[in-house]
Amino acid sequence: PTPALALPVGTTLDRYIMNRQYQFAYATGELSQLLRDIALAGKIIHREVNRAGLIDLTGGMGIENVQGEKQQKLDVIADIRFRRALTNGGEVCAIISEEEEGIILTGNNGGKYVVAIDPLDGSSNIDVNVSIGTIFSIYRRVTPTGTQPTLEDFMQGGHEQVAAGYILYGSSTILVYTTGHSVNGFTYDVSLGEFILSHPDIKSPADGQIYSCNEGNIDLFAEPVQAYLHNCRRQQLTARYIGSLVADFHRNLLKGGIYLYPPTKSNPDGKLRLLYECYPLAFIAERAGCLAVNETESILNIQPHSLHQRTPLYLGAPQMVKQLTVFVRQGM
Ligand code: AHG
Ligand code: MN
Ligand code: MN
Ligand code: MN
Repeated sequence: PTPALALPVGTTLDRYIMNRQYQFAYATGELSQLLRDIALAGKIIHREVNRAGLIDLTGGMGIENVQGEKQQKLDVIADIRFRRALTNGGEVCAIISEEEEGIILTGNNGGKYVVAIDPLDGSSNIDVNVSIGTIFSIYRRVTPTGTQPTLEDFMQGGHEQVAAGYILYGSSTILVYTTGHSVNGFTYDVSLGEFILSHPDIKSPADGQIYSCNEGNIDLFAEPVQAYLHNCRRQQLTARYIGSLVADFHRNLLKGGIYLYPPTKSNPDGKLRLLYECYPLAFIAERAGCLAVNETESILNIQPHSLHQRTPLYLGAPQMVKQLTVFVRQGM
């Protein structure tokens, strides 16, 4: 495809999407509409997040999700909102979500796309006004249009993503996404109710000064990862860990850094989920010049086998990730 003409900062997301649609032959208009549906759901979650403390949306649901995690009210609300927006839009035939065990059939069997989503990322930060997010990944279905979608539609692998993105509900709300070309960020202007292009063609620094890891777990990590973290300290890098993957990723993407979620003996695959956390962020990361790997391979090369499978994750500036792999591979 021809490279996109740069659109100026200040362009609305709608105009941007429309413009891309005409530039790329593959964009039939349905993907454009789907991206708009996600943006709409993002605005709704923005609203809920912002008033959560006022309308009793904080706290737990008192039940666990399929991951064995205590669901927060906003986890459930975000899940419902996204499901509704993607179902009403009509372009999506099936969804998988962190909060639901199986495939969600939208009933739109004519829809060409499937979506994997982490509706609310950073649950532990919801009730304390700390940044949280949404992560999404879009595939073109492989089962024939008109039939009922199946597991196969979600087992395509990271390289087959047609678009991936996240929304960060931070000091401002920002939507960052890529359709496989450049990575662009759109800040939400509340007064206009529009996402506005604020971060065109994001390129991450090749090296960085920040490392992000839950160091409270350091004794549980394998020796090479411990050695790498000690090395970060020796170099007096800056430690930054919010505990919301989206927020930690976004900061490191812009400033240069590495994010680590290593395995432990009791959790040999780490914590983060491949389909709706690691694949989408790895897709964005690689388009912005970063690397995303586990102990043995690039995240996008991992073969998917189940909806909620997990993987260790090392993600960030290429120089830092390469240095980490030297440590990890020496230790193998
Ligand atoms: P989620 O809130 O979607 O379940 O994801 C939680 C993840 C991720 O956002 C974060 O980086 C990580 O859990 C934090 O885990 P620790 O508390 O173990 O550091
Ligand atoms: Mn969760
Ligand atoms: Mn998450
Ligand atoms: Mn989540």
